[in-house]
Amino acid sequence: MAQKSKILIIGGSGSTGKYIVEESEKAGHPTFALVRENTALILKILHIGDIYHHESLVKAIKQVDVVICALGSPEQIADQVKIVAAIKEAGNIKRFFPSEFGVNVDRAKAVDPVEHHLRVKASIQRSIEAEGVPYTYLGQVEIIGDGNTKVIFSKEEDIATYTIKAVDDPRTLNRVLHIRPPANILSFNEIVSLWEKKIGKTLEKTYLLEDQLLKKIQG
Ligand SMILES: NC(=O)c1ccc[n+]([C@@H]2O[C@H](COP(=O)([O-])OP(=O)(O)OC[C@H]3O[C@@H](n4cnc5c(N)ncnc54)[C@H](OP(=O)(O)O)[C@@H]3O)[C@@H](O)[C@H]2O)c1
Repeated sequence: MAQKSKILIIGGSGSTGKYIVEESEKAGHPTFALVRENTALILKILHIGDIYHHESLVKAIKQVDVVICALGSPEQIADQVKIVAAIKEAGNIKRFFPSEFGVNVDRAKAVDPVEHHLRVKASIQRSIEAEGVPYTYLGQVEIIGDGNTKVIFSKEEDIATYTIKAVDDPRTLNRVLHIRPPANILSFNEIVSLWEKKIGKTLEKTYLLEDQLLKKIQG
């Protein structure tokens, strides 16, 4: 059987990253996590490091084959350029998964501050491509149409499963991998009516109008 890739997860203590760490270990990949000094994470192999400490980052990257990033804040998402630079310097990485786990940023449109976040993610993709770093972009959710908008729902555990499955799959190299379980493509109205069926009651509904929603997002 082919050797399983060694995986470094940056942001492995985060709400998405912790599932990816778990799934990677479960799938038998030698699993490493880069964590900051004061962050506790129960894991066999830890690298103490920070994306803002170039040397610790390069050292951790040199010991693995694949880097998966699950950083969360907009600043850190933008600062993934530092990871790209460290991957270039290390020169050994066969696949990089930047922190995506959302919509396909090249096709999606949103309102600020979400739109800004999407553009930052897109600019990271462009620098990965410009530097010739092999990648997979993992897209989770896609919104189709308006009115009874359909959304693709998935759990963090599913995202982690597909991320780790993609690591050694040549079909996902330099591609966007979409997670679209057909049974999970539902509008909110459909979700509510499923819930009503399950509990045998009709729920009283309140609706959030578009301008109210936009205000909430801005806030
Ligand atoms: N589509 C969706 O529905 C959806 C939902 C959620 C998330 N996402 C996406 O998933 C990705 C991850 O988001 P998240 O909410 O899971 O993130 P999160 O919980 O905020 O986790 C961030 C991780 O980054 C680590 N970190 C922060 N600063 C660091 C530094 N300087 N050096 C090294 N590590 C550092 C944190 O470690 P500490 O423990 O030390 O702080 C933590 O492990 C994002 O791209 C987000 O947009 C998508």
